[in-house]
Amino acid sequence: MKCNIGVSLAGIDLRNPVMPASGTFGYGQEYKEVYDLSLLGAIVTKSVTEEPRYGNPLPRIAECSQGMMNSIGLQNPGIKHYINEDLPHLRECYYGPIISNISGFSPEEFGRLAAAVDGQEQVAAIEVNISCPNVKEGGSAFGSDPEMSRKITEEVKKNTSLPVFVKLTPNVTDITEIARACEAGGADGISLINNFRALKIDLKARKPVTAVKYAGLSGPAIKPIALRMVNEVYHAVNIPVIGIGGISKADDVLEMVMAGASAVQVGTANLIDPWACPEIIQKLPQRMEELGISSLDEIRGVI
Ligand code: SIN
Repeated sequence: MKCNIGVSLAGIDLRNPVMPASGTFGYGQEYKEVYDLSLLGAIVTKSVTEEPRYGNPLPRIAECSQGMMNSIGLQNPGIKHYINEDLPHLRECYYGPIISNISGFSPEEFGRLAAAVDGQEQVAAIEVNISCPNVKEGGSAFGSDPEMSRKITEEVKKNTSLPVFVKLTPNVTDITEIARACEAGGADGISLINNFRALKIDLKARKPVTAVKYAGLSGPAIKPIALRMVNEVYHAVNIPVIGIGGISKADDVLEMVMAGASAVQVGTANLIDPWACPEIIQKLPQRMEELGISSLDEIRGVI
C-alpha cells in the first residue's frame, strides 16, 4: 500500500503533518546541526513579542514523571531581531513553510506583530499565542476570556492576509467556548493545547522547584487530556485543528488525527530526543501501512 502523509492545512500544503511546537525549537539554529530541517512539515518559531524579553528568573525548567515543566516567561529577542536576523538565518537552512508564533500584551500589539510578519518570505501562517501560563499579564489570561480571544483574533486578521491559527490554553472550564470565539473572530485554525499550570516541590528546601511558583506541565502526561480537548474542539468548530500535547511517536500522531487533528506539533519530545520529529515522520507511513490506513484524510475525526 502507498501511504499518503501529505496534508492541506488552511490552504497550506504540508509534505507531512509534523511540525515542532513553538518554544521547543528556537528559530532552528541548534537543530540545523542535527538534521535536514526541510524534512519537517513546517516549523513553528518561538513566540515573539514587540520588545525583547529576558523571561522569568532561573530555575525555570524542571523534569517530572512523564513530562517536564517550564516557566520561561516568553524569552525572545523581539520582533526586529526576529525579522532581521532569525528569519533570514532560518531561511538559509530550511525551505518549507514557517509559522510565526506571536505573543502580545494587548490586542493592538498582536495586530502590530501580525503586520510585521505579514509578507515575510516563507512565513506561511501566524500562530497567535494567547495561552502562555508564565506571564503576569496577557498570555493565558487572554486565552481564558472568550471575548478577549475573539478581539485579539479579529485584530490579527485585520493586519494580515496569512492564515491565522490561535493557540489555546487548556486551563479553562470549556475549551470549545474559546475555540468558537476565535472562529467567530475569523481564525483559520485552532492549535491546542498549550501546557497546564502546575507545581513541583523541593521537599528539602520546602520550596517550589522553579523560581516562579507555578510552571507549565507538558509531555506524555498530558496526552490523554490533549486528545480529549482536540476531539471536543474538532466537533465544535468548522476550521482545522492542530493537535499538540505529549506527541513523541508515530502512533501518537495517528491518535491525534483520529481525534480530529489536521496536523500536529511535537514539543517536549524534541527536548528529550532532538531526532524526535524526523523519526516520527519516517515511521508514520510504516505504521499506517501496518494499520491499513492509506491516507490521513481517511481517519481524520473518526472518533
Ligand atoms: C514561555 O515562554 O513561558 C512558554 C511559552 C508558552 O507556554 O506559551
